Amino acid sequence: MSTDPKQMAQKAAEELRSRTGVTAYDAALVMGSGWAPAADLLGDADDEFPSVDLPGFLPPAVQGHSGTVRSVARGDKKLLVFLGRTHLYEGHGPDAVAHGVRTAVAAGASTVILTNAAGSLDPKVGVGTPVLIADHLNLTTRSPLTGATFVDLSRTYSARLRDLAKEAEPSLSEGVYAAMPGPHFETPAEIRMLRSLGADLVGMSTVLEAIAARELGAEVLGISLVTNIAAGLEGADLDHQEVLAAGRRSAGDVGALLAAVTDKL
Ligand code: 6GU
Repeated sequence: MSTDPKQMAQKAAEELRSRTGVTAYDAALVMGSGWAPAADLLGDADDEFPSVDLPGFLPPAVQGHSGTVRSVARGDKKLLVFLGRTHLYEGHGPDAVAHGVRTAVAAGASTVILTNAAGSLDPKVGVGTPVLIADHLNLTTRSPLTGATFVDLSRTYSARLRDLAKEAEPSLSEGVYAAMPGPHFETPAEIRMLRSLGADLVGMSTVLEAIAARELGAEVLGISLVTNIAAGLEGADLDHQEVLAAGRRSAGDVGALLAAVTDKL
């Protein structure tokens, strides 16, 4: 991205405001692969358009990531919903990955809810299970921050927001999310390594967005949906289509959870 990323986000937020008339969002939700039907359960969109209509957003590179922005009024809350995100493996760099979150915060969102599809490193935490992200391992080797931005990540994933989610769904468990650069899935040896490092979940998103959100002072909730068991833990090979299909099958559960959480904000 040629311009300063925060200026770019400001421009995108201005365009968003001129299109929606919404002066401040309460929360932004970034929905992972196959989560679009879950977003429908938040309510009808007052406005919906391709994210590429906003400055700095890139066209989606991967099937299942539709690249749509929705403005939803839910009760007294204004929600900004991103259907699809830019991943690091698309090759546009960390600022492109963080642009949605930065735009959301520039548009007034003080809460950022990041969702993703993840592999489970514990076969007992099976496909279709939503897991609250308690912490992360950023193994992407990248950061959305540059210069002397020594942001504290001690409390990246808000305990307060996790408690709200558990009020809504007491059976929810928590885990550590390891972010890999992708786009390939891991080898069985890498999955054993991640387990020994303390990871419970593995995916290719979320962490750079969480870091960018924390730099800007937003409160972050992360929710992974387990779409597969990670490599080598069960017999089956991994398949992107299966990951997307598992996401679709759980859309109802996850959408209800997101709706309940946003109502409690
Ligand atoms: Cl097993 N690995 C990674 N890196 N991303 C995933 C995944 C696994 N399952 C869903 N997304």
